[in-house]
Parts: sequence; C-alpha cells; structure tokens
Amino acid sequence: MIYVTRRAEFSASHYYHNPELSPEENRRIFGKCNNPHGHGHNYTLEVTVAGDVDSKTGMVLDIKDLKQLVEDEVLQSMDHRFLNKEVPVFSSTLPTTENIAVEIWKRLAQKLPNGKLHRIRLYETPDLYVDYFGEA
Ligand code: NI
Repeated sequence: MIYVTRRAEFSASHYYHNPELSPEENRRIFGKCNNPHGHGHNYTLEVTVAGDVDSKTGMVLDIKDLKQLVEDEVLQSMDHRFLNKEVPVFSSTLPTTENIAVEIWKRLAQKLPNGKLHRIRLYETPDLYVDYFGEA
C-alpha cells in the first residue's frame, strides 16, 4: 500500500451561527465568527489516496484525474464562495473546518478512478488543520 497526496488551495468566507441557540449563546460560543457578514480564509486541502502501484503505469492513479476531480467536486463550488449562502449543505450545517472536511470526503470518496480515499486534511490557517479518515 502506498499513499499519494494532492494539495489544492481555495479561498472562502463563512460565519458560524446555530439557529437552535440563542443570540447570546451564539455570541458566546462563536465570538467574532458569529458576525453574519462573514470573514475569509485561505484553505489548503490535502487529499490522500491509498492504493497499490499499478505495474503497467507505475502509479496508484493518474494524478491528473485526481486534480480534475478536486477541481470539479470541490473547487468549482467552494472557491471564492460564501459557504453559508452558496454551498447548500452549509445553509444547515456549520461550515467549520471539520464539517468542510467531511463534506469534501463525501464528494470525493465514491468518485476516485483508482485507489481508496484515505484522508482529507484541511488547513484553515497554516497553524491549524483537521484530519478526516471517513466513517469507521
Ligand atoms: Ni473562520
């Protein structure tokens, strides 16, 4: 088994607000991130695929295919978007780094041409990232 990682960057804005909580609770829990006008991040995404090396190609999968998949499934709908307002799932799910990683997993896991999705790593800042390995 070998692991191949493709990195991509995108920018998006978001804010955190849980309608089931009171305005005071929202402000207490989410602080500045509760501002409905939103704020932006430059996200770095790492998609790791696990697989065996194909003896014919010497590769796990064609990295161009993976790049295109990330482009089609993630970047086109999330890059330069206000996630709460423009990505339907985030109108009802908080667009936290955790939830964005889970959403990206869902979009990619079934569509890989070869190999198996191993990990989604999403950096919200250079100092902060989450790892998602799918459902156990
Ligand atoms: Ni934020």
